[in-house]
Amino acid sequence: MSDVDAVPSPRTHQEAASIARFANDVQYYLKLQPRQLPSRYLYDALGSALFDAICLLPWYQITRAEMQLLAAHGRSILAHIPHLTTIVELGPGSGQKLATLVRAHRQRSLRLDLHLVDVSPSALALSSRTLSAAGDVRIVTHEASYEVGLAEVAREAHAGRTLVVLLGSNIGNFDLPGAHAFMRGIRSALASGDGLLIGADLVKSERELLLAYDDPLGVTAAFNRNLLLRIDRELGGDFDVTAFAHQAVWNETESRVEMHLVSLRRQRVRVAAAELDIVMEEGESIWTESSYKYQPADLVVMLEGAGFKLAEQWIDSQAAFALTLVEAV
Ligand code: TRP
Repeated sequence: MSDVDAVPSPRTHQEAASIARFANDVQYYLKLQPRQLPSRYLYDALGSALFDAICLLPWYQITRAEMQLLAAHGRSILAHIPHLTTIVELGPGSGQKLATLVRAHRQRSLRLDLHLVDVSPSALALSSRTLSAAGDVRIVTHEASYEVGLAEVAREAHAGRTLVVLLGSNIGNFDLPGAHAFMRGIRSALASGDGLLIGADLVKSERELLLAYDDPLGVTAAFNRNLLLRIDRELGGDFDVTAFAHQAVWNETESRVEMHLVSLRRQRVRVAAAELDIVMEEGESIWTESSYKYQPADLVVMLEGAGFKLAEQWIDSQAAFALTLVEAV
């Protein structure tokens, strides 16, 4: 195929492997019905920067609400876990939320080991920088999926207790069976007495939900459409980004906001490295992410079912956001 020339050659072996995985996923998920793309690929360098901008939007309250809860209750969170020596954050983003917890830990004598697990190298670089300035910490980064990163952390011996943190409503990006399985997976990487802190967005009005995921400035639309740019650049795709519109839909039955990229006309799309050649109809969509919204009690039930018991739950009722701390039984 002549377009193969359009695929830039990767520099390292690791880079080649991750491009091959990306190509496989694009081929598999774009052929599914409905067509999909895994949301972890949203976070290349530009995607991560756009997501950081989303967190500053007045309509996206998750980050601010969570920061406020962490600042207000950081000490209480830590007081639940004596002899805490290790914190593992799954998806640290900019690192600012974990920095709030690290600062709350400052008066204590024990040095903290921080394990940062993220698929995005730019997020790992940024969060490492933020966190090394936050206190006396040893930072280990894992450029990996949550599951692989957790397994790497679990293989190490830990002197004291471990706290796993999953913030930013990342749990909402799993479907319910996936979230259950993931919680059980986290439990199996932990010892009894270790903690798990989860930040989860709660069910609220459709109007608020749609503004959070389809903002008037178009930043979320840019974030979503950037995934097509990334495919064009890294895999030699020929997506015309201007021919796809961002769409957010509140699915009340499933309690989730669905993010789509809707084809504005009938068009052919080829992706060289994924050996993909498809025709998309006008109005046909690519489903890029779901963001499930919880009721506070449902989170507790799910976590109890995965081998944890409730330590404490803090709720911002104005933003409808919950921080839930549980202990491994
Ligand atoms: N974890 C974030 C959330 O569900 C991710 C996110 C925010 C997102 N806005 C988005 C993902 C728009 C795709 C499209 O809130």
